[in-house]
Amino acid sequence: MYSAGREGMTGSERECIAPIVSIVIPTLNEAPNIEPLVSRLVTALEGSIGGCFEVIFVDDESIDGTPEVIMKLAEDDSRLRLLSRRGERGLASAILRGLREATGKYAVVMDADLQHPPEDVPRLLKALEEGADIVVASRYTRGGGVEGWSRVRLLMSLGATILAWILVPETRRTSDPMSGFFAINLERVKLPQTPPPGFKLLVEILRLNPKARVVDVPYVFRRRHEGRSKLGFKSMIDYLAHLAIASSPLRFALVGLGGTIVNLTVFRTLLGAGAPLDAAILLGFEAGLLFNFTIHDRITFSHRRYERSFPARLLGYHLSSAVGVGVGYLVSRSLITFIGLHPILSQLAGIAAGFIANYTLSSRKVWRGT
Ligand code: GDD
Ligand code: MN
Repeated sequence: MYSAGREGMTGSERECIAPIVSIVIPTLNEAPNIEPLVSRLVTALEGSIGGCFEVIFVDDESIDGTPEVIMKLAEDDSRLRLLSRRGERGLASAILRGLREATGKYAVVMDADLQHPPEDVPRLLKALEEGADIVVASRYTRGGGVEGWSRVRLLMSLGATILAWILVPETRRTSDPMSGFFAINLERVKLPQTPPPGFKLLVEILRLNPKARVVDVPYVFRRRHEGRSKLGFKSMIDYLAHLAIASSPLRFALVGLGGTIVNLTVFRTLLGAGAPLDAAILLGFEAGLLFNFTIHDRITFSHRRYERSFPARLLGYHLSSAVGVGVGYLVSRSLITFIGLHPILSQLAGIAAGFIANYTLSSRKVWRGT
């Protein structure tokens, strides 16, 4: 690991003691794109915030001369820095590394291939200045778009976006959680300790900062300037794995299945030991509930700092579970009575409704936190 370009001073940098903005750019074999990128970026920044910024390139052993091109440019402009990682790979981890090295108050993350137009960066910074914590450059908001995508590619991207919204509810605050072009206030946004398995650092940042103010800024995702994409089939699998691991609703549902088994086991054991029926039923429920509570408290929501005390959470989860059962009962009973739906289907719909009610209350009230 080495860095370059810390020494030396250029004219526009003189008024700047510490950079306000750090631009983080991951690179893997992007040599022909670096020079036009830097030139357009510097022009855009100097025309908006002035000379007070740094550009951090995070390179993973590119073999096409990318580091050399960056070092060459950094000789004339000390605001450019290069971090060369050895024996490490991965887009999300490269970005995270760059964000850790950033010394600015604000950081912008963007690709090196000019698909994220440097001219859009000032608009992201303006939204941060106006109080946003996380600014997402979005293809899927009014005024945004993509250039030259087939219908299939667009559908896949939208599908992946909707999956993120379903599985990681914290991402619903933006129209484009898959964006690789975003800006954050480093003083207010918590970064992940370890990079997520996928390449979507933004999903992880949104998940870890449920209270952060998120603002979308439209942009058009351009065609790649030179070279080809580094993200293939494996990155899609990684993305799905990331969503599955990061999904609180999915964990909540799986834990619920575990709790059902605990419930049944206690119920049967007590009955076998000759306990009264009512006691067996109620203690079975209580055992399942305590099982669920413990895992939710230690794992499902453990990425949050809880606002409520332990007893309040314990009581709260009993209440939210009771509400879940109540909602489930009402839905199932209404479907059977008023619509004449098959009892099994009705009961399944009731289970789904009860699950949603219980999850929503648990996530928003019981384990509320930052
Ligand atoms: N250091 C490092 N290490 N950089 C990497 C790696 C890696 O393992 N993999 C890719 N990069 C760099 C590329 O050099 C490029 O600058 C940027 O990360 C994005 O990689 P591309 O290969 O151009 O990805 P893409 O165009 O298919 O997807 C991009 O756009 C999507 C839509 O906005 C990414 O930014 C996605 O995150 C984004 O969703
Ligand atoms: Mn690209």
